[in-house]
Amino acid sequence: MPDITLVTRDGARLGFACEQNENVLDAAAAAGLFLPAMCREGSCGLCHAHVADGAYEMGSYAKGALSDADQAGVLLCRCQPREDLVIDLPYPQADVKRHAIISREVVIEALAPAGAGAMAVTVVYAPHSDLGQAADFVPGQYMELAIPGTDIRRAYSMSNLPNWDGRLEFLIRMQKDGAFSTYLADRAKIGDVLIARGPLGTFVLDETSSRPRCLIGGGCGFAPVLSMLRHLADFQDTQPTHLILGANREDELFPAGELDVLRAALPHMGVTLSVWRPDGDWQGFTGTAADAFEQYLESCPETPDVYVCGPPRMLEAVKAVAQERSIPPERIISERIL
Ligand SMILES: Cc1cc2nc3c(=O)[nH]c(=O)nc-3n(C[C@H](O)[C@H](O)[C@H](O)COP(=O)(O)OP(=O)(O)OC[C@H]3O[C@@H](n4cnc5c(N)ncnc54)[C@H](O)[C@@H]3O)c2cc1C
Ligand code: FES
Repeated sequence: MPDITLVTRDGARLGFACEQNENVLDAAAAAGLFLPAMCREGSCGLCHAHVADGAYEMGSYAKGALSDADQAGVLLCRCQPREDLVIDLPYPQADVKRHAIISREVVIEALAPAGAGAMAVTVVYAPHSDLGQAADFVPGQYMELAIPGTDIRRAYSMSNLPNWDGRLEFLIRMQKDGAFSTYLADRAKIGDVLIARGPLGTFVLDETSSRPRCLIGGGCGFAPVLSMLRHLADFQDTQPTHLILGANREDELFPAGELDVLRAALPHMGVTLSVWRPDGDWQGFTGTAADAFEQYLESCPETPDVYVCGPPRMLEAVKAVAQERSIPPERIISERIL
């Protein structure tokens, strides 16, 4: 049976065996190593990694789950070994959990259009005698929500703050013909019970750092950034912070009302709204979020910590700008949203 060695970003080596007809993700879980993953069917892209050595076979996967440019890239839920493999993981050892993540029931409390083709969805934990009621998470994290009556799960980042009431708020952009989007548009109603798994993810603020922060959100990547900014506002944070929100078109930017509240609470915060292809009389920055980031760096006196959340192409573009400017990779904290 092939031996698999996983090498985490911080250099830890984790070994286990994997049958040739088994995928690496399942074999890792059987060995007590729970790796970041969600759909387990090659569509979310969360289990992506790089094979440094060894032969393998990849099962089918959805277009976009893996970048075409990423030659050594694999999805661990689709990767079966043909010999011993050494696999580089794009995250530190702390992200490899040693216990299964908690799943529990949540009830839909509110559903409302949020502009920019998105729905604001609020769920609340159903009472549980052992788990308590608090929604305990770190701003920037996400939950997996399952469509009622199915095993179909999707990741959504919380946009609110941790709270004692067990309330989780999401901003969910509707995708044409998408499974969860169709459930929300056609069937979801207040009182529906869903299974939520989490909290998950390490896209969180490094509060020990005194460097300036640049937070970049593309599309629905605004949700975790909003949670982070609400947290900073709550603590009346005074560290230099710059927010870049990117969208393809003006009407895809999230509503200005939310931003006005944050601007008032964080008066030192700079904001760039960047639109790649504005339709009409656009007064803001024209270009991609990566272009706006480049412009911001020109005026930033010190190398910042960079938090970037959005689709893979946006992440790659921002990371390329950061690399050109010699920003160390460990200062870039990213969340990839397919
Ligand atoms: C960590 C993380 C956090 C996230 N946070 C958020 C968030 O806060 N807000 C948010 O809106 N999203 C977020 N996402 C994205 C979210 O998880 C879903 O991917 C997104 O909502 C689409 O789900 P869906 O079920 O509606 O669409 P899916 O069913 O996944 O489909 C996506 C698209 O692919 C198309 N498609 C599906 N199947 C096929 C097929 N067989 N052939 C061709 N096309 C197909 C659909 O038509 C649709 O347009 C996050 C993702 C991750 C990984
Ligand atoms: S868990 Fe592998 S692509 Fe989703």
